[in-house]
Amino acid sequence: MNYRHAFHAGNFADVFKHAILAGLIESLKSKQTPFRYFDTHAGAGRYDLRGDEARKTREHEAGVQRLLDAARLPAALHIYLNLVRALNSGSNAHDVAIYPGSPLLASLLMRDVDSATLCEVQAEETAALKKLFAGDARIGVHQRDGYAALDAMLPPPERRGLVLIDPPFEAQEAEFDAIEAALARALARWPTGMYAIWYPIKLRQQRASFLRWFARHKVPKVLCAELLLHPDNSALRLNGCGMVIVNPPWKFDRQLAELLPALREHLAQGRFGQQRVEWLSGE
Ligand SMILES: C[S@@+](CC[C@H](N)C(=O)[O-])C[C@H]1O[C@@H](n2cnc3c(N)ncnc32)[C@H](O)[C@@H]1O
Repeated sequence: MNYRHAFHAGNFADVFKHAILAGLIESLKSKQTPFRYFDTHAGAGRYDLRGDEARKTREHEAGVQRLLDAARLPAALHIYLNLVRALNSGSNAHDVAIYPGSPLLASLLMRDVDSATLCEVQAEETAALKKLFAGDARIGVHQRDGYAALDAMLPPPERRGLVLIDPPFEAQEAEFDAIEAALARALARWPTGMYAIWYPIKLRQQRASFLRWFARHKVPKVLCAELLLHPDNSALRLNGCGMVIVNPPWKFDRQLAELLPALREHLAQGRFGQQRVEWLSGE
């Protein structure tokens, strides 16, 4: 395991993923009853964009920094961006210095009655999570395989909530296989849960079988959003990314249809840009 998310924090893929995550968590708050948030691949929770890793790649400059500098963004982006701004409000500098990973973003949106289960395999990242959430009784941090944790922890006692699956994809095919196997078991235990699965886009055909898996397994309500900044014909770079959402909130496709064109416009890395929102099954 070589992957360290600190090299990529706040890049275009994080912006895509975290803006959608914020929308999903907000939708869970429309009911008063508590929900549980599961993060199977949690990372360190919070990233220092002035640290060595982020300074080496500067990926956030073509990601979250662009949106913070943009005028007239759709409402679907406001909650996410306001959280990033609030985290950086102590700094006089124009450049964003602190970037929230999915666990911190979720914790800032959760209410007192909601709770979160965070799984991470790397000791250093787990230690960072434990430090970040020390004293927050809503949040449990576990150093363990996130896929196996779902077998043990689903369904949650609240019977409402969201599972974010955001693996490092060090081996593309193997990771898709692992997600499919874990989802099949998770959906059998908790068919009404909301699941959001992030995936990278390099070559067109690499994700095709994964996207067909949902219809093949008769998962009833599945929405898919993709953002492409380069044509999907090169294995050498991250050309785009996608999110599959099982049991999405009502009218979430409309929210995505508002969000994605703005992301494409502001995160463009050249003249090419595509986005799509599609139901893989149900509607
Ligand atoms: C893409 S990063 C997560 C980023 C995080 N979700 C966010 O949005 O801020 C993937 C993380 O998964 C961890 N990881 C890899 N395999 C894992 C597994 N089987 N179970 C739990 N965590 C794993 C890696 O150490 C890495 O920190």
